[in-house]
Amino acid sequence: MEFCAARRAILQLLGTVAPADRPALLQWMRTTRDFDEFTQDNNDIMLKNIADDLRNCLPLETMLSSEHLALQKIQQQPKPTVHVDAFLYDEDFIDSLCEEGKMSRNYCMVCGSHQTAPLGFISHSFSLMELKFIYHHVLPDLSGKVLVDVGSRLGTVLFGGYLYSSAEQLYGVELNGDFCQLQEMVIKKYQFNDRIKVLHADICTQGSLLQNADVVIMNNVFEYFLNESEQARAWEYISHNVRKQGSLLLTVPSLEESLSVLQTNIQLSPWVKEVPLNYDECLPEDTDREALEQIHLYEIL
Ligand SMILES: C[S@@+](CC[C@H](N)C(=O)[O-])C[C@H]1O[C@@H](n2cnc3c(N)ncnc32)[C@H](O)[C@@H]1O
Repeated sequence: MEFCAARRAILQLLGTVAPADRPALLQWMRTTRDFDEFTQDNNDIMLKNIADDLRNCLPLETMLSSEHLALQKIQQQPKPTVHVDAFLYDEDFIDSLCEEGKMSRNYCMVCGSHQTAPLGFISHSFSLMELKFIYHHVLPDLSGKVLVDVGSRLGTVLFGGYLYSSAEQLYGVELNGDFCQLQEMVIKKYQFNDRIKVLHADICTQGSLLQNADVVIMNNVFEYFLNESEQARAWEYISHNVRKQGSLLLTVPSLEESLSVLQTNIQLSPWVKEVPLNYDECLPEDTDREALEQIHLYEIL
């Protein structure tokens, strides 16, 4: 149905609604999120445009020379590993870069021979698919809520939250000033500044922000960017300040996994309760289930 015919049909339908119920129906049409599935495509397109903008400002490996420790930790992985940012480069994009010879999924085990093995891939950002899973299936309705993304990097969690949720305020805290500038560029271009704010800071200076947050997101924040004693200190700070009863903490990987390699005094059972997630919920066939299973949600006790 074309636009004019659809509009006529809607007006006709409204004409048949009992006059006493019409205000309630109109109010529902103005405020409901039931139409989200029809506007989703626009939001996906906007996020893809943001990815285009960011790709144009960053090298292929999406790491900055200022990220010494992260670069070093990638080089020290047991198997050769490359950083490919999952928000900027989806599987199809990687395939086309491989076809053009700009990227490879394999490394040569014996130089000059045909013996190859798959490279390890890591991403410092959530992919579009992970963001949609988080906002559509993991988190509840965020109307009136404050969300904090710890280590907001390219801003993907914030932009996803702006487009896919009704969160009232989305705060990003990022240690790296260059990434803060990139986030500001996107916020300005897409006019996201009514609901998104980025702070260039160490999260360990943001106690009151963490204490007031309704949702805190932590996507592998510390492992690649801090040494072990700094990681332990940062986790202690998080566990002392993310304390609002009933608030939610979403982590990748699980808290158990992050903390198992560190020396901390954090006791999980008096602090958080894990909320089971349904990883099969309404997901497209090509979903990377392994990536989704890294996502964990906790309620603060
Ligand atoms: C893996 S990225 C997460 C990106 C983003 N949240 C996402 O999910 O797409 C982690 C980011 O945390 C930042 N970071 C590490 N330690 C931090 C700290 N103590 N305070 C603020 N940001 C930190 C790093 O600079 C890095 O950009």
